[in-house]
This record gives sequence, structure tokens and C-alpha cells, in this order.
Amino acid sequence: MTSKTFKKNILCIGAGYVGGPTMTVIANKCPNYKVTVVDISQERIDAWNSDRLPIFEPGLKERVLSARGKNLFFSTEIDRCIDEADIIFVSVNTPTKMFGEGAGKAVDLQFIEQTARRIKENSKSNKIVVEKSTLPVRAAEALATILHSGNNSVKFEILSNPEFMAEGTGIRDMESPDRILIGSKDTPSGVAARDVLLDIYLHWVPKDRLITTNLWSSELSKLVANAFLAQRISSINTIASLCEVTEADVTEVSRAIGMDSRIGSKFLNAGPGFGGSCFRKDILNLVYLCEYYQLNDVAAFWEQVVSVNDNQMERYVRRILQAMFNTLVGKKLAVFGFAFKPDTGDTRDAPAIYICKRLLEEKADLKITDPYALDNARKDLHDAEEGVEFIEDPYQAVEGAHGIALITEWSLYKDLDYQKIFDKMEKPAFIFDGRNHLDHQALYEIGFNVYPVGKPALSHL
Ligand SMILES: NC(=O)c1ccc[n+]([C@@H]2O[C@H](COP(=O)([O-])OP(=O)(O)OC[C@H]3O[C@@H](n4cnc5c(N)ncnc54)[C@H](O)[C@@H]3O)[C@@H](O)[C@H]2O)c1
Repeated sequence: MTSKTFKKNILCIGAGYVGGPTMTVIANKCPNYKVTVVDISQERIDAWNSDRLPIFEPGLKERVLSARGKNLFFSTEIDRCIDEADIIFVSVNTPTKMFGEGAGKAVDLQFIEQTARRIKENSKSNKIVVEKSTLPVRAAEALATILHSGNNSVKFEILSNPEFMAEGTGIRDMESPDRILIGSKDTPSGVAARDVLLDIYLHWVPKDRLITTNLWSSELSKLVANAFLAQRISSINTIASLCEVTEADVTEVSRAIGMDSRIGSKFLNAGPGFGGSCFRKDILNLVYLCEYYQLNDVAAFWEQVVSVNDNQMERYVRRILQAMFNTLVGKKLAVFGFAFKPDTGDTRDAPAIYICKRLLEEKADLKITDPYALDNARKDLHDAEEGVEFIEDPYQAVEGAHGIALITEWSLYKDLDYQKIFDKMEKPAFIFDGRNHLDHQALYEIGFNVYPVGKPALSHL
């Protein structure tokens, strides 16, 4: 099929965790649109064109295979694809800036700016440019200024269409989204561009789930959504610390408050802290924006969500250290799970990185196991000269171990034979269930000393 037979050409710049899956869903749902995903990384594009996709996400591979080569294409020919596109999604990374003004908080916009300049240089016809990346409020203004600078007769309409999917459930979230948000200018051309994007989503999203707002509300809503989600995790983790010293049980407290319909039950699981590429970065971006506008009390409020998270990871390490007689030197610890959450191989900002580094500092010997994240774990801990091994089989990882630190709640860890595991371990055997994922009473009865989060330990000592 040539591109002439397609209704429109969609291009996505950035073939990462967002660009790849979102475009795959659009291609599957809109066979009459040609969807091309480009990236500067040849390695990533080669992987998207192979049988070994660069990311793991349940349901992704089947959908890539059903559309690839028909109306879904992965390429590094960025300039040509820009020229051919009617609609360009920008889905490049927007990490925290690590240098100069705003270092450690503001967003590093260099990849966005490079992309905008490239779009401008290669566009010979009018285009709709969609912000899919998470950006600071009013970023669309800067994007429009770059795109319209110089003697260019081409017109660009900027839309904001933040992505709310969560890794691990990405395909489901995109196929049945809670809502799709589109921000546009309230001008005739802004509204017309918005309608073009709405047309795409209307292929599968019910009308009442499509929300339209002004550009700035849309940009801000994405930061606020992540800040609220992260805030709930930090809130329940503060209560978990209180539970550990008062013999209250955080699971019972979560259940009791979660049944209040004003509070709701989601995101109330205590754990070792939140991770992933977005929460910390987006909150810090919000903090930076508030500081920029001299809203210092607002900035301090949100910054606290990040500090609580940092303390939570450290508390998990201290609990291990204290339970194991205040020394980990030469002790073997099997680490169950390295991904920042189950059903993804993504380890960006995973609590496991911090926790493992701290355990290595205490001179523990780590055997890390994870069904999908070991390649990334190796990269994350490449500095560790000794004391760490990566083992696919959890039964092999626990051989001769003094303790197990469960950091990611992969469902497979529930179904292991813990009697067999106990038999392979040194005694006394410890389990630090950082996610309250396992059956603590059953483990205790096998002989383990069990340390959950936010509830009293079950110890034979
Ligand atoms: N990962 C998530 O769960 C998630 C969810 C919602 C929103 N977001 C946001 O989406 C954006 C992308 O996140 P991601 O997780 O997909 O990042 P990612 O790092 O996985 O992918 C970004 C891709 O952009 C490419 N890239 C960078 N500069 C480029 C350029 N100039 N031209 C072409 N390609 C370029 C990189 O090579 C990389 O492959 C970020 O702003 C993020 O905050 C992420």
C-alpha cells in the first residue's frame, strides 16, 4: 500500500516507552492512517523492527506484529518522515536537568528544542505538532516560537496531548483510557487542529472520555496527576512508619480509609517507595515551576513528597540491617525484583537501584533476580565491582542466602515453593517483604523471620 491510500500520515518522534506503544495502539485502531515512529537511536529502531522489541509491555508484541509493515513503520529517516507527515507527535525524553540553572529540578528541554528545530527545517507543508512528552506549563509557547521563527511560510498548530498510561498496563490504559486530554488554543485554527486529533481517538475512545481544555491546563494536568499519585504513595508510606512502631497494620488502615468513597482505595499500598521515570522528575518540575513563580510554600509542600520517598527507601535498608544484627558484611541477600513495578522491564529510578547500592555499601553479597529487568539491572549497577550477581532463576538466587529482599511484586513470587526456598537458605532465614506481597503467616510457619512494611514483624528470634 502506498502512503497515498492513507487518510493521513502520523509521525511520532521518539520511539521509547511512550512513543512505541501509543503509536502501536493508534496504528491498530486506525488502519486508514499511516503511522511512522522515528528515533535518533538506530539500535532502538532496529529492535522495534525485530522480534525482540526494545521494551516489554504485556500485549505489545502481538499488536506490533499485527500492524508492522502494513500501517506501522519504525525508521531513522527523521527528516524525510517529517516532510511527509500531517500530524507529528513529539515523544522524546524530558529528563531532569542536571546542570546550570534549575539543576536537579527543572526539565532539560534540549531534546524538545532539537526536535522542534528539526521539524521546522524539514517542513514544507502545514503541520499539527502534538506534545506527547510531559512538559512544563507554557512549553507550547516556546515550541511555537521556535517553529515559527525565521522566514518560514509553513504554519504549525501546537496541541498538548499528555500520556496518562502506566507502564505494565500501558496497552490496556491506551485501549480503554480513563480519559484522553487534548489542550489547544481557542482560535479557529487551534480548534480545527484539535478536531483532527479528536478524530483519531474517536476510532476507539467513547466521546465522554475525550476532554478538551486550553493548552496550559492540559500541560499542567499531567504534572498534577503524577504529583497526586506520588503524593498518595508517600502519604501511606508515612503511615506505614507509624504503624511499625505502634503495632497498627498499614494494610488494615489502607482498607479502612480506602472504603471511604471520598478517598478511594487505589494507590494506598505501602512499599519501598515509588520509582519509574516520571514521578520524581514531574514533581521536581512542579516544584521548580512553583519556585519560579515564588510560590515557596506550594513548592515546599510538593518537595516533601520526594523527601518522604527518599526516606522510605532508606528505612527499608535500615530495617534489613537492624533485623540482621546490624551487619551485612559477607551476608548473601537474594533480591526479588528489580523493575520499578511488575510487568515491565523498566528500571528507571527504581527503588531497587538505591536499595541495592546501599546494601552493597554495607558489604552484602547480592543475588538479583527479575523476570524481565536483569539487562537493565546490570547497567544500573555497572559501577559495583564486586558483591553482585544477576540470576534468572529465583531458586538459584536463594542458594545459601541469609535473607530475601522482595522489592518488586511480580506475581510469580507469590507462587514459589517457599519450603524449598527455606531449605536452601542459611538459618536464621529472613524475608523483607517490601510490598506486603506474600503470605506472611505461612512463611512464618515455615520458619522464616518475616519483616513486612508497616506492620509488626513475625519473628522466631
Ligand atoms: N514512561 C512512561 O511511563 C511515561 C508516561 C507518560 C508520559 N511520559 C513522558 O513521555 C516522554 C517520553 O518518555 P519515554 O519513557 O518514552 O522516554 P524514552 O527515553 O523511553 O524515549 C524517548 C526516545 O526519544 C528519543 N529521542 C531523543 N531525542 C530525540 C530527537 N531529537 N529525535 C528523535 N528521537 C529522539 C530517544 O532516543 C528515546 O528513544 C517523557 O516526556 C515522559 O515524561 C512517560
